[in-house]
Amino acid sequence: MAGRISDADIALVRERSPIADVVGEYVQLRNAGGGNLKGLCPFHEEKSPSFNVTPARGMYFCFGCSEGGDAITFIQKIDALSFAEAVERLAARAGLQLRYEQGGYVPGRQQGERARLIEAHRAAAEFYLAQLTSPEAAPGRRFLSERGFERVDAEHFGIGYAPNEWEALTRHLMARGFTAQELLRGGLAAEGRRGPRDRFRGRLIWPIRDITGDVIGFGARKLLDADDGPKYLNTPESPIYHKSSVLYGIDLAKREISKRSQAVIVEGYTDVMALHLAGVPTAVATCGTAFGEDHIKVLRRILFDQGQGEVIFTFDGDSAGQKAALRAFQDEQKFVTQTYVAVQPDGLDPCDLRVKHGDAAVRDLVASREPLFAFAIRSVIARYDLNTNEGKLSALDAAAPVVASIKDRALRHMYAVDLDRWLGFMNERLVVERIQEIAARPVETRAQPRAARPGPADPMVRLESEALKLAVQRPALLGPEFDTLGAATFTQPEHAALYELILTAGGTAAGGPGGRQWVERLMDGATEELRPLVTRLAVEEVRVDVNVEERYSTAVLAKLQEITVGRALDGLKARMQRLNPVEEQQEYNRMFAELVALEQQRRVLRERAAGA
Ligand code: GTP
Ligand code: MN
Repeated sequence: MAGRISDADIALVRERSPIADVVGEYVQLRNAGGGNLKGLCPFHEEKSPSFNVTPARGMYFCFGCSEGGDAITFIQKIDALSFAEAVERLAARAGLQLRYEQGGYVPGRQQGERARLIEAHRAAAEFYLAQLTSPEAAPGRRFLSERGFERVDAEHFGIGYAPNEWEALTRHLMARGFTAQELLRGGLAAEGRRGPRDRFRGRLIWPIRDITGDVIGFGARKLLDADDGPKYLNTPESPIYHKSSVLYGIDLAKREISKRSQAVIVEGYTDVMALHLAGVPTAVATCGTAFGEDHIKVLRRILFDQGQGEVIFTFDGDSAGQKAALRAFQDEQKFVTQTYVAVQPDGLDPCDLRVKHGDAAVRDLVASREPLFAFAIRSVIARYDLNTNEGKLSALDAAAPVVASIKDRALRHMYAVDLDRWLGFMNERLVVERIQEIAARPVETRAQPRAARPGPADPMVRLESEALKLAVQRPALLGPEFDTLGAATFTQPEHAALYELILTAGGTAAGGPGGRQWVERLMDGATEELRPLVTRLAVEEVRVDVNVEERYSTAVLAKLQEITVGRALDGLKARMQRLNPVEEQQEYNRMFAELVALEQQRRVLRERAAGA
């Protein structure tokens, strides 16, 4: 790695990469009026174009799948590249020579360290790879062939062998200029009594790569009886290896995951290999840890269609897997409807399954996935004897809390109906009532149904978003009145966040006529969560004629202010009702005066809002 690309070069790459040309190489674009272009979205399936490109602001946005950004983002997404790689690709396209520098946002020392550790891992992976053909590695080669892997398969995954010596790798890397400190920091060596010694000895080695394909760590399987260490040893936490987010196979699977909107989570390195070779190239595995929040984040970035993506877990059907599934209920249920479970027949893991029954059996395993809810409910009732009435009722009582915990009402009802069928009652009413009864119990864990979040069609949400759109596209039209609205005006947390961002960026005065630089400034300051909103508002049309835009902005602002004043009035009235006008006369009079003033202000705003 050559260091950081200079900011000036990134700006130049943006400048020389017209969004319409860059996108146009992948998507057929046609004129959409107002200087904008339209085409079929490359990030989701669609028949009529909702993918918009706005050359004036250098942005694209899809109204179908909410994917959006600038030329660099587009290349990152469509070619599954890192930011730096996308910049490099665009630079090459524009015939620009990039200058790299150390430092920038990242302290120079750390930047250098990461590059050094990546280099050391690259060299280590090559070293291990070369050892796999040595006579000593015979048990390793046997392990692979017993599990159905051929030489080309091993090569495809870069599998290697760590010699059963104390300093084989350490000496090799130090001879190449890596320091003991670097080997220790990266976890390639461990501190011994006489200096650093190899961490992995006499083991089969899987290089673990990050999403861009850089090796960041290793998984190492025991081969020798004399080895009294654990079956698998992994790289410890290091500046480049974070086990909570590492997914083995992600470098190979990323494209297929985004293309198929599906990711399959398996347990081990050999399982990932088996799935890929059997024709399921979307498989990844955690490395010696449970699947968690950080792993989800990595997958979400590749699974574009948030509404459609599937995450399929393979379980061996034992109680551990079922417990994991049931745990999903206690947490956030946001992604639970996209979570599926595939249960392995006879407790065979995918690797064993492929050896015993072939590739088709592995593909069938994945195809047999069922929704997590269905799996969890069925696991519970499987413990009961459904041939007796007593057993059926006990199963109902055991499964009802699971169904009752489904937050989505419609989905809960559907599973109640399923549960009746699975139990064989043929009495939907009975089952539904039992579930309702349990759902209504005052269990502290049974959260109150959350207030439904207003959707984009909600008038208030629309109004807020119109105001923000004007601030992004035509800041000068809004002027200082917008800057004094206050974040509390916005009912949607992300709207409030964008409002704050606009003020931080200097407010409407700094935005001036809008345009590309203003949008870039906002994008630079935006958090990852906020960027899609900025992008959408930068691309979405202002739904009025240019001639009435100014009046329109005034009206939108006035309407927002009117609502804010209305809220203040409601609060004031409520407080006044709690006062005793006789005993607390002074306070009451003060509030009354305020009330009159606010009512007056509201009348003015209402007229202004109606003036559009
Ligand atoms: P065989 O059972 O011999 O076919 O090997 P296997 O690779 O299938 O091993 P197993 O199914 O036991 O393990 C699957 C995955 O669990 C491995 O790829 C590891 O990531 C993890 N794992 C298993 N044993 C250990 C261990 O002792 N330590 C750690 N950290 N991880 C382990
Ligand atoms: Mn296994």
